[in-house]
Amino acid sequence: MEYTNGIRRIAINTGGGDAPGLNAVIRAATLTAIENGWEVLGIRRGYMGLLHDDVDGEPGMVQLCADRVRGITHLGGTILGTTARGNLFGLEVRQSDGTWGQTDPSERIMARFGELGIDALIAIGGDGSLKIAHRLFLKGLRVVGVPKTIDNDLGATDMTFGFQTAVDVATEAIGRLHSTAEAHQRVMVVQVMGRHTGWIALESGLAGGADVILIPEIPYSVERIAAKIAERERARRRFSIVVVAEGALPAGGAPSYVGATGRYGGIGDLLALEIEQATGKEARCLTLGHIQRGGSPVPYDRNLALRFGAAAVHAVELGNFGCMVGLQGKSVRSVPLGDAINAIKRVPADGEVVRTARRLGVSFGD
Ligand code: F6P
Repeated sequence: MEYTNGIRRIAINTGGGDAPGLNAVIRAATLTAIENGWEVLGIRRGYMGLLHDDVDGEPGMVQLCADRVRGITHLGGTILGTTARGNLFGLEVRQSDGTWGQTDPSERIMARFGELGIDALIAIGGDGSLKIAHRLFLKGLRVVGVPKTIDNDLGATDMTFGFQTAVDVATEAIGRLHSTAEAHQRVMVVQVMGRHTGWIALESGLAGGADVILIPEIPYSVERIAAKIAERERARRRFSIVVVAEGALPAGGAPSYVGATGRYGGIGDLLALEIEQATGKEARCLTLGHIQRGGSPVPYDRNLALRFGAAAVHAVELGNFGCMVGLQGKSVRSVPLGDAINAIKRVPADGEVVRTARRLGVSFGD
């Protein structure tokens, strides 16, 4: 059996927050690799499956065959599991006293790839996971990255799978709020995900007919939000929809966090209170949270993910290690991981989509 450039066995893992489309990547990469005559192993929960024979009661390593990836394209989540605590070079592990400590098992991980005869790794992840993949590449591992995040904030790809599904879920929710907001003449505040960027808020707010869209890239003032609401009152539109990205912040202020966790949270509730105080109108907040990551990927995300999975195997065939597949215009190409991982893609505050929204009467709170 001819093995492409000496490759006989590859591994696939998924790291960081899940995103609809992960299973489509796994399916496409597995079937494309099998077509090359390669063996495919799945690593459970990031790199955990390499370190532990048993992960959550299942074997740490999973033989991926055609049957195992049958019918998973439309499934949300990841059949391999993932972990948001998978930073190998500072892997957070629960100590015997229940606290979280840090360890660096990267050498052990490298050794395990050798012990298992794994010739290359396809690492599917967001900026954190791809940074780990890059460091393993610098240690000598043959790695190809696949970008994954609902935030769509990775600079080296025009789009990440999961994003359109998150926008779809958020838009549906925002659309449903108009009737109850109008019935009660209220201001409804919808907090969406997106971490450091406002892509989900911008796209779902525009599509969902929001009156105010607040994103981290354009710091807001409550006075400007109140002015927009007052303008609508004068036009006898006695309700408003405000979409706020979880990382949005007031001009001269700071984002809102969940206690000392470092995780964004709470801005929606805070804004609802501030809007009530500034306008005298009732306001309520809806935080969409992880529903934006749940359920079946929309067709666009399924197909982008399938393309990324097949392209990742092609990159392995070509020996393009240390790179990441990404969408550039209409084509999927390989870009160096080193360039990709340090380029967070933020919403251009004076970009065409923001300008369009402003011309349609949307306020950005500035
Ligand atoms: O990066 C994807 C994302 O969903 C962000 O939008 C969000 O801030 C974060 O993950 C939530 O992380 P976790 O699932 O660990 O709460």
